[in-house]
Amino acid sequence: MTAPSSCGSKPAPDCTLVIFGITGDLTHRLLMPALYNLSRWELLPERFAMIGVGRSGVSVDTLRDDLTGTMRGFIAERGTGLAAEGFDEGAWEKVVGRLEYLAGDVTDPATYRELAGRIAASQETYGTGRNVLFYLAVAARFIGPVVNGLGEARLTGQEAGAWRRVIIEKPFGHDLESAKALNRDILAVLSEDQIFRIDHFLGKETVQNILAFRFGNGLFEPLWNRDRIDHVQITVAETVGVGKRGSFYDATGALRDMVPNHLFQLFTMTAMEPPTSFEADAVRDKKEEVLSAVHLLPDAAAVRAQYTAGIVHGQAVRNYRDELDVTPNSQTETFVALRLMVDNWRWAGVPFYLRTGKAMAKRDTEIAIRFKQAPLALFRGTGVEACIPNWLVLQIQPDEGISLQFGAKVPGPEVRLGAVNMDFLYKDYFQSPPSTGYETLIYDAMMGDATLFQRADSIEAGWRVVQPLLRAWSGRRDTMTTYPAGSAGPKEADDLLARDGRAWRPL
Ligand code: BG6
Repeated sequence: MTAPSSCGSKPAPDCTLVIFGITGDLTHRLLMPALYNLSRWELLPERFAMIGVGRSGVSVDTLRDDLTGTMRGFIAERGTGLAAEGFDEGAWEKVVGRLEYLAGDVTDPATYRELAGRIAASQETYGTGRNVLFYLAVAARFIGPVVNGLGEARLTGQEAGAWRRVIIEKPFGHDLESAKALNRDILAVLSEDQIFRIDHFLGKETVQNILAFRFGNGLFEPLWNRDRIDHVQITVAETVGVGKRGSFYDATGALRDMVPNHLFQLFTMTAMEPPTSFEADAVRDKKEEVLSAVHLLPDAAAVRAQYTAGIVHGQAVRNYRDELDVTPNSQTETFVALRLMVDNWRWAGVPFYLRTGKAMAKRDTEIAIRFKQAPLALFRGTGVEACIPNWLVLQIQPDEGISLQFGAKVPGPEVRLGAVNMDFLYKDYFQSPPSTGYETLIYDAMMGDATLFQRADSIEAGWRVVQPLLRAWSGRRDTMTTYPAGSAGPKEADDLLARDGRAWRPL
């Protein structure tokens, strides 16, 4: 079974992987399937061991059985990026058979002393060498304490031939101040090159392809500026509601959950200047630069809304406020739409409209670039009143692909224009095995390649852009509106574009 092209072709270096939050949802749903895929593709280290850290007092056998049960379930239902062609017991055994379990409280220094002993033992038993990758799949409030605990137990020191790296899950802070404080805390223990801040959108092939498309083709880049582009729409619409994540989501909201991270990844990759190379820092410098040129006017340029009861894909969805673990008078938004302007020469005067929401009519993640109209409609005396708009759409998910819309003459005696598309669908050209997106990220962290991870300054730059909104919305009920579940969002989001004489693309 071959790996997708985004992963390398040789196994990662020998190491021990320590997962904090081994019994949690993320580990079950994404990390274990990703490790299983890496194992099938023969990209896991040859000498490899895993230590899971969790709070519950389960035995390692129970934990292994649990994880195996979940994996079997996923494979049976063909979920979460796993191949449908049966369970590869051998590949799974290389993952789960190497797993040890440590029950402990992450705020207790004794846990880290015990962990140090376990790491030394795993190095001995499995011959993994001294490299250790720590994966922090824990709630945001534990990130600082875990990094501190690791530092105090002297588990983060690197020497020649022995690296120590830490993968940190989002959300990274809940506003600019807390993100800065967290960066300060972890940078007191780790150096920047040891820190791998995850934004799982960067693990998606189609997201990585944005840069390949822009900078690997001579055709589009000359058009990629205010001379030819009218505006850009970035949509991340989800059909799922908040499900069982009510308590996390209600304290977070759509803006914090999606915008400074996932939507800004799509935005920066679309708007950044060409980097001088594809080295991690060269790419990250350009992303940071474009974010620092963004301005957003909270009152005129942003809409937030909450879903009310409705129907999504034929299923009844209740009011957001009636969802499990959501407060009945919640003021948390499940939808947000923004208008960003970029103060640089390339983009002056070109609005970027961003929207994201839960419980919407359709799952659709896309970047749509609308080109300017032809300078003159040369169809005098015909039925043609306006030219067909030119759209270039990078479809991130589902139905991954790229399409270009233009006008063509409808056959017949009259001159009439119809919209037609040139479509590229990934599945027609590439046979990429199913994956969760985490494979590349885990593999890259083991390889020490930080290109697909966020640096301290890019995280802070993202928060800096949305900070005026967080401030403007805090405690103000009049800034919230609603939309029925199963719709394309609130009317106010349509008004945001209508004020500029534009409209959202239909979902
Ligand atoms: C997560 C958010 O980071 O990304 C979720 O917390 C969201 O609320 C998810 O549903 C979307 O990711 P994907 O890969 O399913 O598009």
